[in-house]
Amino acid sequence: MRILGIETSCDDTGIAIFDEKNGLITNQLNSQSQLNIKYGGIIPELAARKHLNNIIPLIRLALYDINNEISTISAIAYTAGPGLIGSLLVGATIGSSLAYSWNIPVIPINHMEAHLLTFMMKKFFNSIEFPFIGLLVSGKHTQIINAISMTNYKIIGTSMDDAAGEALDKTALLLGINPPGGAQLSKLAEKSTNTKFVFPRPMIHHPNLNFSFSGLKTHAKKIIQNNKLNSKIKSDIARSFEDAIIDVLVFKCKKALIQTGYKRLVIAGGVSSNLKLRRELKKMLKTCDLHGKLYYADPKFCTDNGAMISYLGFLKFKKGIFTSPKIQVNSTWSI
Ligand code: KG4
Ligand code: ZN
Repeated sequence: MRILGIETSCDDTGIAIFDEKNGLITNQLNSQSQLNIKYGGIIPELAARKHLNNIIPLIRLALYDINNEISTISAIAYTAGPGLIGSLLVGATIGSSLAYSWNIPVIPINHMEAHLLTFMMKKFFNSIEFPFIGLLVSGKHTQIINAISMTNYKIIGTSMDDAAGEALDKTALLLGINPPGGAQLSKLAEKSTNTKFVFPRPMIHHPNLNFSFSGLKTHAKKIIQNNKLNSKIKSDIARSFEDAIIDVLVFKCKKALIQTGYKRLVIAGGVSSNLKLRRELKKMLKTCDLHGKLYYADPKFCTDNGAMISYLGFLKFKKGIFTSPKIQVNSTWSI
């Protein structure tokens, strides 16, 4: 059994094939980051057009990796949401059209659920380890999930404004780093040896598990305007800013684990590839008598990719969750 996965929720075109026996056998990705740098961010209309240009050549490459044995593909999983509607429609339309002509079913996939379960991709023969607390941290989402089972997720914390990744990207831009700047900002922060800039820890003492990051970004803007920027000052700002975000994320994860009594913490989404976040979460799990364990995917599978769509497609197909070809998209589809 093989599942072809199609990811086009935002600006990355991802095509992958997951094989029942051999796991991930091909993973093709085309990033639009150069286009985003040119326009200072993602332009939805242009992103959709780029997907249209890229998707067929990437599918051809993926099929080449299975010697064009189309008959071995059992179903096509495509990202149905959340995401940019034009981008989603490209993947859903191509996926459903191919499925129709190959006479196989489709599996509409929730992008956030795919991020959340990618950590299991490496050991796909093992049974799924539910329940767990999931921290979804991407460019558009910051959510704490009570993952009860594969079809039962409860959002128990969410950002009231900007996502953590969005705040990182916007502040990175103010420091002269091209979008998406989260990873580069983190590299800059590593060079700093002090925390002389003081940033607040928004909503850390609120009784709930929600977040707010837009104030942090405004705070960074003020500091940047009031200081003469050189490489040292820039790295000090980056460090203090990153520390503030990580402190809040770690604190709320700890709270969620204590509230639920769960031992497993899964981090997923682009920001989960942040090494300091991983280190601090591990430290928290060790020092808080929680005896918990942290799970995450390889960094290359934390940001958007087709592999996670083909893998979740595989899990759903095994459970009998698929449908006849249809174009089903929902730009605000919640996990
Ligand atoms: O999951 P993702 O690829 O796309 C969305 O679905 O949004 O996440 C992209 C986000 C961007 O904000 C990017 O700056 C951030 O992930 N990111 C990082 C790192 N790598 C990617 N943020 C902090 N540290 C990193 N190493
Ligand atoms: Zn994503």
